[in-house]
Order: sequence, then C-alpha cells, then structure tokens
Amino acid sequence: MQLQDAIKERKSIRAFKPDPVPFETVKELLELAALAPSGTNVQPWKVHVVTGAARERLVEGVLAYREENPGDTAQEFEHSNKRVEPYLGRMRKLGKDMYGLIGIPKGDKERAWEQWGRNYKFFDAPVGLIFTIDKELDARSWLDIGMFMQNLMLAATEKGLATCAQGAWNMFWKATRPLLGIPESEYIICGLSLGYADPDAPVNALISEREPVEAFATFHGFEDAESSAAKAG
Ligand SMILES: Cc1cc2nc3c(=O)[nH]c(=O)nc-3n(C[C@H](O)[C@H](O)[C@H](O)COP(=O)(O)O)c2cc1C
Repeated sequence: MQLQDAIKERKSIRAFKPDPVPFETVKELLELAALAPSGTNVQPWKVHVVTGAARERLVEGVLAYREENPGDTAQEFEHSNKRVEPYLGRMRKLGKDMYGLIGIPKGDKERAWEQWGRNYKFFDAPVGLIFTIDKELDARSWLDIGMFMQNLMLAATEKGLATCAQGAWNMFWKATRPLLGIPESEYIICGLSLGYADPDAPVNALISEREPVEAFATFHGFEDAESSAAKAG
C-alpha cells in the first residue's frame, strides 16, 4: 500500500468486530508512531494500552462513573466551549450525518446519550489507547502527540486495522485516572479505538467531508515563481 492510499483509506470507525489484535502488532504500531517528529525531539507521548480484562475494568468503571455523574463533562485542561462558524456548521453536519446513518432522530436524547456512551466502550474495539501528556508541556508538544497518533492510525490502516481518535476520553477523566494509575502530573488528552472494522455496521458508512484547499490555504509568491519559471523556460 502506498502512503497516499493509507491516507485516503483511513477514516474513523465507530463499530468494531471482537477479533483481538496481537500484542506484537500493537507494539509495532507504537514503534512506528514514535518515529513521528517532535519539537527538539522531546517525544512527549505517553500512552496506556488496554485489552482483555484491563479494558473491561476501564470501560465498566468509566461508564458507571458517567451514569452517576452525567454532568461532569469538563476536561481537566483549559478549553473553550465556544462554538463559532465555520466550525459549528461542520460539527453539526457530521453529527447529523452520523445520527442519520444510525437512525437516531433529532431530539432523541436517550439514544444520543447511549451512542455517545459507545465511545467509552471503544466502540467494542478489542484495544483501547489513552494518551496522556505531562502538564509541564505546552501546545507544541500537543501537536507532537497529534503526529504520533496520525502515524499510528496510518500504520494501522496499512495493516488492515481500523481506528477512531476519541476526544471523548477528555471527559470523565476523574474515573479514568485512578483506573489506569495515571499520575496527577499528566493530562488525559485523547483516546483511540483500535481493531477490525465491522463492515456491516451502518455507522461505518459515514464519510466526512473536506473543504477544498482554497478554503484554508493562502498562497504567497507562487505567481512570481511561476512567471519567473515561464520567462526562464
Ligand atoms: C483529536 C480527535 C478527537 C476525536 N474525538 C472523537 C470522539 O470522541 N468520538 C468520535 O466518535 N470521533 C472522534 N473523532 C473523529 C472525528 O470525528 C473524525 O476524525 C472527523 O469527523 C473526520 O472524519 P474521519 O476521521 O472519518 O476522516 C476525533 C478525531 C480527532 C482527530
């Protein structure tokens, strides 16, 4: 598989088959992920990987906490809940498409709560990853962890595995922290489901849209370069 095939094929999967992922495969994915660049090579990534009984304990513990504390959704780190355009529209479109595929009507709070809760089951994936970062590190290191995660997701795609990055694990961190023994000196910044996609699950048919390059890129100096090239040529 060419790199660009993996980039194009990767998408977030939200329903997995129970088939296990061997330890050696998970380890190899982490080795590949750790080849990501990081500012001044600080390699800020830390990850807890759960499967089997350890995964069950985490899932059950966090879901129980969520049932008891449904309003305790704040992240531990500073964040903004401000939803402004154009981001709000994109977010709503994704939610509408996803809930539409699953068949959850707008306003059905009970089913929406249940579907959101599937995040904390890693969408039934056999392997769950929880990424943490030292509280001493700043935004630059958060970027590095994003690159680590993308390496992992692309390498997984190449191996026929599927993934879903999960910011949902920012929430209910009060339950996750003791269950995984995460020190107070670290933030829980993301989760990730890893396993084999269930091809029959309607939610996995979701295709998220992208804006064209012109919508986010501002080009500088290319016209000059092109006219010089034309003159030279
Ligand atoms: C940092 C991050 C956090 C995310 N958190 C969640 C999440 O909590 N639950 C979820 O279902 N999807 C989550 N996603 C998946 C995004 O919704 C998805 O990447 C986006 O809609 C683009 O779709 P694609 O991944 O299929 O290309 C997250 C993605 C990223 C990068």
